[in-house]
Amino acid sequence: MKRLVINGGKKLFGEIEVGGAKNAVLPIIAASLLSSEEVILEDVPDLLDVSIMSQVVCALGGEVARQGHTLRIKAENFDNFEAPFDLITKMRASIVIMGPVLARKGRVRISHPGGCAIGSRPVNWHLKGLESLGAEVRIDHGYLDVSAPKLTGARIYLDFPSVGATENILMAAAAAEGMTIIENAAQEPEIVDLANFINQMGGKIRGAGTNIITVEGVQEFSGTRHTIIPDRIEAGTFILMAAACGGDVLVNNVISTHLAPLLAKLDEAKVQYEELEDGIRVFGNDSYLAVDIKTQVHPGFPTDLQAPFLALLARAKGTAIVTENIFENRFMHVDELKRMGADLKVEGRSVIVQGVPFLNPATLMATDLRAGAALILAALTAPGRSEIWEIQHIDRGYENIETKLRGLGADIERVDE
Ligand code: EPZ
Repeated sequence: MKRLVINGGKKLFGEIEVGGAKNAVLPIIAASLLSSEEVILEDVPDLLDVSIMSQVVCALGGEVARQGHTLRIKAENFDNFEAPFDLITKMRASIVIMGPVLARKGRVRISHPGGCAIGSRPVNWHLKGLESLGAEVRIDHGYLDVSAPKLTGARIYLDFPSVGATENILMAAAAAEGMTIIENAAQEPEIVDLANFINQMGGKIRGAGTNIITVEGVQEFSGTRHTIIPDRIEAGTFILMAAACGGDVLVNNVISTHLAPLLAKLDEAKVQYEELEDGIRVFGNDSYLAVDIKTQVHPGFPTDLQAPFLALLARAKGTAIVTENIFENRFMHVDELKRMGADLKVEGRSVIVQGVPFLNPATLMATDLRAGAALILAALTAPGRSEIWEIQHIDRGYENIETKLRGLGADIERVDE
């Protein structure tokens, strides 16, 4: 059983490199299906989720080759419109192949992605958007069978600025006939990266990053070369780890504007940091104030940093309230942190966090990607030996996390027995 063994209680010193954004590269790999020419992606992180999405593209008839952090994709002989059940159930994010496969093949068949640890994860807004573009949705034995001999531009209002629904609709609209307007669209930086990528292939998308996106459909998409934006969630996770442990850490390859909501909260908590050209330097001791956070869609505080931030607050001076407004079950890290001595009380969608002076090491269980990151942060601060099990969840979104943290002087190793 693979696990991480951490001897915590040390300050961190040195530099750590942030990789390309998982939540940008996944939809961009799907969008590469729009073109029959070769697409080259740079700064692609070597993650479990990226290899699953690559396998989905191959199962549809595409070719994917990885050389280090470069991915070469060619979907010339795209002969299949059904994504394999086992891959879809492994990763919900593969739902975003619907838009590009519909655009290219006129039909897509994909098992209804199940829920996951953090919630039931419905896809109703994805389907409503695709239907607005002329698709017909059938649910057949747990499969979504969506057909659209022709996609026609439409005005689509999203009940909620869903990231995945915005991405699916964007990719289908890019190849639809005529104009599409997406209102109440998601504004995450990963949406902007996806739109830039599609425009580089010949797409005509305007307004990505705002809540109104207009798309003029085009018939042909060329190949292109694109560098994935840095991963703001990986960066934020490392920044929070540095703040929790104290020391002097330079987190490299960061676009500060993508982290504005986190940096605003660090200011309130009196965490000392400095914004540099393309990095954030976090320094000082491990003492900071309790601050309240409420997760919101971008540009609000990101739900993906809620768990690591809550782990930081476990040792803050004072009482904080953490409210999760995006997912219905994203407090799986709370019970594990309580086993380390954290003083936490769940009240509906909020957790009341009473800061304690220190956490005790423990053997812990990761339940999902960001909860796992929160447990690493907590274990790095707890003097003594902790173990974190089920680390496959962590490997989905953090490349070589133990190697990167060892580079900062952390005593952490991966044990596989
Ligand atoms: C993306 O998930 C990210 N994943 C998530 O990151 C991130 O937490 C989330 O956006 C919010 O920022 C990828 O980009 C691969 P949503 P997504 O559609 O697209 C509900 C991580 O840790 N909803 O904005 O699934 C949904 O259940 C992952 O890297 C519907 O009800 O997020 C959730 O409660 C976790 N119906 C809320 O909306 C729908 O049709 C937000 O979901 C779609 C979503």
